[in-house]
Order: sequence, then structure tokens, then C-alpha cells
Amino acid sequence: MERDIERVFLSEQRIRERIGQAAAILDEKFAGGNPLAVGVLKGSVMFLCDLVRAMKTPVQIEFITVSSYGERAQSSGVPKIVSDLSASVAGRDVLLVEDIVDSGCTLKFLKEYFSGRGARSFTSVTLLNKPARRQVGIEADYSCFEAEDEFLVGYGLDYAQRYRNLPYIGVLNREVYER
Ligand code: PRP
Repeated sequence: MERDIERVFLSEQRIRERIGQAAAILDEKFAGGNPLAVGVLKGSVMFLCDLVRAMKTPVQIEFITVSSYGERAQSSGVPKIVSDLSASVAGRDVLLVEDIVDSGCTLKFLKEYFSGRGARSFTSVTLLNKPARRQVGIEADYSCFEAEDEFLVGYGLDYAQRYRNLPYIGVLNREVYER
């Protein structure tokens, strides 16, 4: 795996520090509450696990699987729910946890989806934000890091389902996806 990484974009330590800051902000926002933290599978798993462990607020954890990319590199722009939450969001404060906001289609879709199902509030946090790739006008409420249009893998992010278990985020060597 390591051989395919051109350079480290975010080290484990930088990720941990930034997550600590994000957790403190979210603790303040949700003080006295019990938000429903919803991880968008599979990419957000590592981030969600570390974020909720850094938070002091009691949170309930749920997962949702949304697919928009299929086998293509570009988003189709039409997200689909592949597997839904097991809990109701009605009346809940939803904290959506994403690994990356790229075109913004998934975030926009989920915001509308949860609002339509009666969530009391909707807050989104993303580990990475790629504003240059945006196709719809939406921003996460909290972004930990801004990224350029480079192919990033690791800490949940994949290329062809690989590299998710790298403990840091790296820039994938071009040769890997131009082979
Ligand atoms: C990625 C990522 C976000 C979405 C963001 O998921 O986890 O959910 O794409 O892209 P967008 O802003 O263009 O909608 P992906 O469909 O690649 O699945 P994965 O998390 O299983 O890798």
C-alpha cells in the first residue's frame, strides 16, 4: 500500500489534533443534548469513530450507505440510499459525519432526506472539503481540512476499495489510477 502513496497529505497526528478541535466545537453546540451521529458508509467510518470518542456529549450512532459514484470516477449527481438508518430521525438533532464533500450532491441529498423525515436539526461535519469540485451550492457546517483536486486515500478514503485502512491520508500516485 505504502508504495502507491506519492506523499503524506495529513499525518495521523494532524488528523487527531484537528478532530479534537472539531469535537470541542460540537460539544459546545450540542451541550445538554443527545445528537444522532450518522456516519455515511464506508468512507466516514474512521472519522466517525475518532470524532465521537473525542466528544464528551453522549451521542447515538447510526450509519447510512449512499451510493452516487458506482464504478465511475465522477459523481452521477443522483445519490441513492443503499442501506438506511435503523433509528428514526424524527425530532432528533442529526449530526451527519462525512469523510469528504466533493460535488456536494450527497450532502445536499441527505440534508433534504433527514429534514423530510422530521429531524429537529441538521448539522454536518466533514473531514475533508474539496470546494473546487462543488456542483451544487452547499457547504458542511464544519470542515476539518480543505483539499485540492488531488486523489486522496487512507483513513477511510479509497481507490477501488483499497487503501481505506491506511492510518493517514496520502496522495495516490497517478500511476495507480492511470495504469
Ligand atoms: C464519497 C464520500 C461521500 C461522497 C461525497 O462516498 O464518502 O459520501 O462520496 O461526494 P459528493 O460530494 O460528490 O457527493 P462514495 O460514494 O465514494 O462511497 P464510500 O464512502 O464507500 O467510498
